[in-house]
Amino acid sequence: MSLILAIETSCDETAVAVLRGCDELLASEVWSQAALHAEYGGVVPEVASRSHLSALPGLVGTALRHSKIQLSEIDAFAATCGPGLPTALLVGMAHAKGLAIGMDRPFLAINHIEGHLFSPFFGQPEILPHIGMVVSGGHTLLVDVSSFGVCRVLGSTVDDATGEAFDKVAKLLGLGYPGGVEIERMARDGDPARYAFPRGMMHSGDFQFSFSGLKTAVRYLLAREKVSIPDVCASFQEAVVEVLVEKAMAAAKACGRTCVAMSGGVSSNGRLQALALRRAEEHEIEMRFAPRDLRTDNAAMIAYVAALQLEGGGVGKLDADVHPNFDTKSFKQSRPVEAQI
Ligand code: KG4
Ligand code: ZN
Repeated sequence: MSLILAIETSCDETAVAVLRGCDELLASEVWSQAALHAEYGGVVPEVASRSHLSALPGLVGTALRHSKIQLSEIDAFAATCGPGLPTALLVGMAHAKGLAIGMDRPFLAINHIEGHLFSPFFGQPEILPHIGMVVSGGHTLLVDVSSFGVCRVLGSTVDDATGEAFDKVAKLLGLGYPGGVEIERMARDGDPARYAFPRGMMHSGDFQFSFSGLKTAVRYLLAREKVSIPDVCASFQEAVVEVLVEKAMAAAKACGRTCVAMSGGVSSNGRLQALALRRAEEHEIEMRFAPRDLRTDNAAMIAYVAALQLEGGGVGKLDADVHPNFDTKSFKQSRPVEAQI
């Protein structure tokens, strides 16, 4: 069984994983730079890439030590090629390519979204045909997955990503970062029906999402009256979660799928999981979530996709370039599917 070392540096997490075969995770190291960026109120690309550069050699060493594997035993090297911050991606790609050249092994360039998308199936015997929902700080995507590598994007966000909406509203409310965790914590003591926030594009008849109107509604409310923060958090969370779950269920119905899988940082949200499980049961749909440690950015999901590619006969590509923007070309497209909610 092949041993893969994967590197993830698309944003502000430096991560390295070592995977044997498709499911034996020997190490998954994640170093978050969040504290470095906190004083700027957002990720500073130059700070991120410099930090990846200084952290990577040590983190690769730690991952090898924890896996009790020598560098010479690694059969293939992989890194995230995009989407993400261009200079941050370049650092991880260059490092993994350098190792591949030095050790005379193949290099695989992996799409970050594919990493999230397939993470709910990590450790599972097979990837079921399913509707995949990626909800993270940078992306909101609904994908119809026939099998590994055969997918079509059904919809994405027209403005803010789901996690971004959580983070921006948390900032408006003076809560800490990451906003999703803080909002979920405050929402536990709040009334989700107190404020009637808009359900953006809920009945748009497609699988697109929009969260900026919701953010603006919170802003106007705060300017207008003295609010209960827990009630705002609970009502905001409910509005987001309802749209996500309804569109995921509608996608399953439209595409005739009996499995829905959620991944990305926002899929950790307890209210999202509870509502998704309830609605899935009503629709006789099997619900899957990414394993806890694979929801926020990590290199294990990158190693997993690399392993699946190798298993499918994929070969290394040393001349692969970074792809900072989301590139739907990596997903098979077909005719649009109509949403009925
Ligand atoms: O997947 P991830 O690391 O980001 C990207 O790849 O972009 O997810 C980070 C995002 C942040 O926006 C964070 O606020 C959100 O996931 N998040 C949550 C929760 N935990 C993390 N959102 C809602 N509820 C949570 N429990
Ligand atoms: Zn991500």
